[in-house]
Amino acid sequence: MITSNISYAVKALNQGDLVAIPTETVYGLAGSAFSEHTIQKIFELKNRPFSNPLILHTHSIEEVLKFVKEIPPNAMKLAEALWPGPLTLLLPKKSIIPHSVTAGSDLVAVRIPNHPVALSLLKQLDFPLVAPSANPYTRISPTNSKMVYDYFGDALPIILEGDVCSKGIESTIVGFNDNTPVIYRQGSISIDAIEFIAGKSKLLANIKEKVTTPGMSPMHYAPRTRFQIVDSIPNFIEQNQDLKIGVLTLGKKTIEKSNTTCIHLSIAADLHEASANLYKSMYDLDDMHLDCIIIEKFPENGIGKSLNDRILRASFR
Ligand code: TXA
Ligand code: MG
Repeated sequence: MITSNISYAVKALNQGDLVAIPTETVYGLAGSAFSEHTIQKIFELKNRPFSNPLILHTHSIEEVLKFVKEIPPNAMKLAEALWPGPLTLLLPKKSIIPHSVTAGSDLVAVRIPNHPVALSLLKQLDFPLVAPSANPYTRISPTNSKMVYDYFGDALPIILEGDVCSKGIESTIVGFNDNTPVIYRQGSISIDAIEFIAGKSKLLANIKEKVTTPGMSPMHYAPRTRFQIVDSIPNFIEQNQDLKIGVLTLGKKTIEKSNTTCIHLSIAADLHEASANLYKSMYDLDDMHLDCIIIEKFPENGIGKSLNDRILRASFR
């Protein structure tokens, strides 16, 4: 059921059930972080390996301090500047956080989402929520409630309505080596913004080197249709007239060929608008029985780097 009634969600979560919740990044598949049984249900419903840890969601820095041993100075700067928001911090966990949440690690990933429905829900609960993105493992993360329903149907009794996710890609995950920020996952907050607040950072995993840390699996964000990054959309179409092609474009250019279906990510070529539209557009094209979906790389600045990371992962086979 898709509902706007937060009290239904409070009741279900108190009983140990799962609820899909809206956040500003993507919808999450939420449950109590303090119930082993609930945590197990999340992994099972997503068909996700237990080795892939979960993000803890809560509503204030005071709450975070109940769950972590310390917040390094640069982490605190980021928290104060960017929370609530699409920032996840990796911090040393207190023993109150189960190892099933962190897949055995002594670090827990924590975030305060910037969404009125999620924040209101979190304030009404006596426990934090763990919430991976609300998609089956390796599928595209959902950015509206209907995508969640399409994925799970009635296996998920409550999907909280929260409109379309304004950011549209996942949070940026930042850990710390001493006090130096380490980017574990590029996301909705650009590396430039992190560095402006906390100084020079290191990028942990480079997809081109196929380094895999928990959750950095290249297949993470993939449509089932072949997804290809091309140098030139018009050239690719010209050279592949026998294919049914889905096209994702940035800017004004329109492709009008009978064998193509074109979705504009942002006519104004605004990278934030493109980010908000990316997953839904990939998902819609994926349903159209096309031979392939093509896209050109985004400009490699600001959030464009995170978008390029996502499309590179989606193109991995
Ligand atoms: O925007 C988001 O972060 C969304 C919304 C729902 O909050 N959540 C999300 O969760 O993207 P998920 O589970 O789909 O991705 C979480 C990522 C995974 O790649 C996981 O491996 C990594 O965070 N992660 C979580 N805990 C970690 C830990 N203790 N150490 C290293 N990586 C961790
Ligand atoms: Mg995910």
